[in-house]
Amino acid sequence: MAQDETESLAEIAPDAGMLPDDRGKRKIIELHGVTVTVKSLKFSRQHFLKIDSFTIIKDVSFYSYEGEILGLIGESGAGKSTILRCITGQWKPTSGSVSVAGIDVIHHRREAAKRFGYVPQLDIVGTYDHFTALENVYYFGKMYLSGVPDEQIRQRARELLNILGFKDALMNKKVKNLSGGERKRVSIAVGMIHDPEVLLLDEPTTGLDISLRIQVLNYLKNLNKKLGISVVIVSHDLEIAQYCSKIVLLEKGLVIEFGDPEVLINRLLPCEGRSIKLDVTELNDEVLDALREVSDIKFVIKTGRNDVKIFAEEIDRKMISRVIEICDLMNLTIKSITLDRADFTSYYRIRSKMEKDKVKQEKESQDLVS
Ligand SMILES: Nc1ncnc2c1ncn2[C@@H]1O[C@H](COP(=O)(O)OP(=O)(O)O)[C@@H](O)[C@H]1O
Ligand SMILES: [Mg+2]
Repeated sequence: MAQDETESLAEIAPDAGMLPDDRGKRKIIELHGVTVTVKSLKFSRQHFLKIDSFTIIKDVSFYSYEGEILGLIGESGAGKSTILRCITGQWKPTSGSVSVAGIDVIHHRREAAKRFGYVPQLDIVGTYDHFTALENVYYFGKMYLSGVPDEQIRQRARELLNILGFKDALMNKKVKNLSGGERKRVSIAVGMIHDPEVLLLDEPTTGLDISLRIQVLNYLKNLNKKLGISVVIVSHDLEIAQYCSKIVLLEKGLVIEFGDPEVLINRLLPCEGRSIKLDVTELNDEVLDALREVSDIKFVIKTGRNDVKIFAEEIDRKMISRVIEICDLMNLTIKSITLDRADFTSYYRIRSKMEKDKVKQEKESQDLVS
């Protein structure tokens, strides 16, 4: 997968990446039909050497505009890191094209590398334990920003660490003494030191507890707002969706959904994702079944031990009365009943259930035929 490093700046169009698309916004990341197939040598049963090939990602296409936060979401093994490696140019796809800020990554890797910052999944790869947070960011700044005066690099390192919530005392602590969330923020500052146009992060919230995950995402949003940096977050965590203006859902190497999360929710769910949120004393399966039997109710999902979200064709007084009536019939005490908006987690759960039902139905009709 090693890439030919030879390239000439003269080959790159002077306005590379500056061409506005039909909506007048510049595409910062663009992948077209990207497929990665790896080949390995294996012994067959007859002990002959044979070539085995395995397609990790297939025909992957998506894009994001300048200033956007794009989330690449998929389960472990879906191919997320492989896509990131194609964007950084570490891997050359078997077919397809990849561009960063309008620069063709496959043919102009080094030029493209100036335009992105990369935050690897493991902080160990990107920082030095015995250096302080500030020294780390400054050190990488010295490496990437040749010719820039030291004081200017130090100033930028401080500014970045400040936006990422570091006060002076914390900046001067050794990285080995920082918490997981703080270390992650140092890696982010390192990825930002050369003033890239887009920041690529591989699983930035993995291994952190819920409050730290939200904190890291909030700091990323802050960077995006204050510096206008475009961001690509790769994660298996659905909660990143609320920070993203575009989502790519990846499953077994294939893009199964791509778009604005609000648009995806509106397209799939009735009432543009509005729902009735019901919190009762003792939720049981009979109530869930009774709710699902109401003809206008499309989906009922459990969101906690005693609460559910109900998605229906119409959410009006009549529907709310019907829900209350069912609870009365089942002798359930309602603690609260409110109107709610679907989040991406609800969307994903409903989508997955619909897919499973579809597969089941197809199998049943096939069994009937045979
Ligand atoms: N060099 C490789 N050779 C063969 N298979 C690989 C290689 N790298 C990754 N894979 C496989 O490709 C799949 C996707 O990997 P990856 O992109 O790391 O997934 P993710 O980041 O979504 O967890 C996994 O099944 C992984 O084992
Ligand atoms: Mg990965």
